[in-house]
Amino acid sequence: MITMKDVIREGNPLLKEKSVDVKIPLSKEDEQLMIDMMEYVYNSCDPELNEKYDLRPAVGLAAPQLGILKKMIAIVAPDENGEEHEFALINPKLISYSDELTYLEGGEGCLSVDRACNSLIHRPARVTFEAYFYDLDTGKLEKKRMRLKGYLAVVFQHEYDHLNGILFVDRENKENPYYIPENSKPIKFNEE
Ligand code: NI
Repeated sequence: MITMKDVIREGNPLLKEKSVDVKIPLSKEDEQLMIDMMEYVYNSCDPELNEKYDLRPAVGLAAPQLGILKKMIAIVAPDENGEEHEFALINPKLISYSDELTYLEGGEGCLSVDRACNSLIHRPARVTFEAYFYDLDTGKLEKKRMRLKGYLAVVFQHEYDHLNGILFVDRENKENPYYIPENSKPIKFNEE
């Protein structure tokens, strides 16, 4: 299983590299990697396992964070209504994005960044992308387009950046870390 010792950190040159397309259909090795990445994200948010294996909680993980330069992303994250969504993505491709921006009020975090950085990271509020979606239950791959907004759009873009060698800290506004552009609105979660 993947643990924090497998995650490479800021300063490792591999985090600056671009990832390459994964061969379709998946090899056994790539399929196992996708499964292991999803498992990390699930385990990291389980209070018992997270403590037992000393996992840092994450809503997403990209293969390059393991030093593997392949376009693979695991996401398990809630939408603004608290409903959880699971995406095991192979070869994602950003198709379009909104002019309107959004941001997390507490800033972003990353398993590959150990230092604290709570600068506001503004990203398009809505994105459309295409990817092969891996189904963890059936092992099937389906190519489709998806539109995401709000928190899920931010998580997707953070992970997608990893495939292009970009960390969230590379996007911070160093002169004015808390600057809020006029077209950027914070992400709001609907409380029950
Ligand atoms: Ni990250």
